[in-house]
Amino acid sequence: MDFLRDHTNKINKALENTELPEYPNNLYDPLRYFFRLGGKRIRPILTLLAAERFDKNGVTDPIQAALAVEIFHNFSLIHDDIMDEAPVRRGQQTVHKKWNQNIAILSGDVMLVKAYQYLNAYSPEIANQLIKVFNKTAIEVCEGQQMDMDFEKISNVTREEYIRMITLKTSVLLGCALQMGAIVGGANSDEQSDLYAYGMNMGIAFQIQDDLLDLYGDPELVGKQVGGDIIANKNTLLMVVAKEAANEKQMSTLDKLSNEPNIAKKIEGIIALFKTLKVQENCLELMSDFYEKAEYYLNKIGLNSSESALYLLTKELKKRSY
Ligand code: IPE
Ligand code: IPE
Ligand code: MG
Ligand code: MG
Ligand code: MG
Repeated sequence: MDFLRDHTNKINKALENTELPEYPNNLYDPLRYFFRLGGKRIRPILTLLAAERFDKNGVTDPIQAALAVEIFHNFSLIHDDIMDEAPVRRGQQTVHKKWNQNIAILSGDVMLVKAYQYLNAYSPEIANQLIKVFNKTAIEVCEGQQMDMDFEKISNVTREEYIRMITLKTSVLLGCALQMGAIVGGANSDEQSDLYAYGMNMGIAFQIQDDLLDLYGDPELVGKQVGGDIIANKNTLLMVVAKEAANEKQMSTLDKLSNEPNIAKKIEGIIALFKTLKVQENCLELMSDFYEKAEYYLNKIGLNSSESALYLLTKELKKRSY
């Protein structure tokens, strides 16, 4: 997995070299802080790998497009943590906890603009194509985030609605990361759409995994508060699947637990009920279905062998524990 380490280092170094003024430090310190927190860097890695697939000689550098995607993602995380009232991110305090909510809003905003600056580095012809995909994606992410929050207030979310929501809030950005890499690498439009479809399906699987890790992951590795989704009464896939399977009595237990003020008791009760309802198994099955769909598209572009970096990355992601 040398290519993963090399690409991660390349992205981290480039982020570190992003020029940021000192003043006003309450605007820029959160950016410096967040960029140094690390993270898996999946999206920018996808951009680099997609570009390398088509531009084997490295004629056009995909790093700026990769940085734009990662910086947009980081902006969305800072604002997401405000919305989800999350205290911990990547094992450290969230920006709104370490500073305050206003600082988190504004430093997130400036990050978004920084992302666009990186897209401007390309020739007008490439930049136009990149910005078109990027704009469409950014709007969709906002739509997904709004649906996610609206779903906190609705009890009967269907699987289809849930998949639609995570497609928007998460998977379109993975698709976009790949398509942007493909654009920089000079891929044709069919190749771009196949890579996008691969990213979309992988992104759905990736978010299902994120939902599972939120409750069942090792908090040290995941770097987020355990049971954050339960605490916020999120309608994640786990909850949707649980409600599909629950009988009347179990439904009323779920209902009672959603109003339980003692957090430890609430999480413990939900975990017990989920176990009876085989929630984890069901979600894992659905996750595998989407990874399979993702692999179908990799196959279609002839990238389903162990010589393909995207194939190896998908394999790694499937078994991720953070
Ligand atoms: C977290 O994304 C938010 C989701 C869309 C699931 P990642 O799990 O990629 O977070 P980092 O970038 O590695 O911290
Ligand atoms: C985040 O979804 C999606 C975006 C940031 C757009 P989550 O709220 O599940 O992500 P985490 O679990 O906080 O990383
Ligand atoms: Mg959220
Ligand atoms: Mg969140
Ligand atoms: Mg989550």
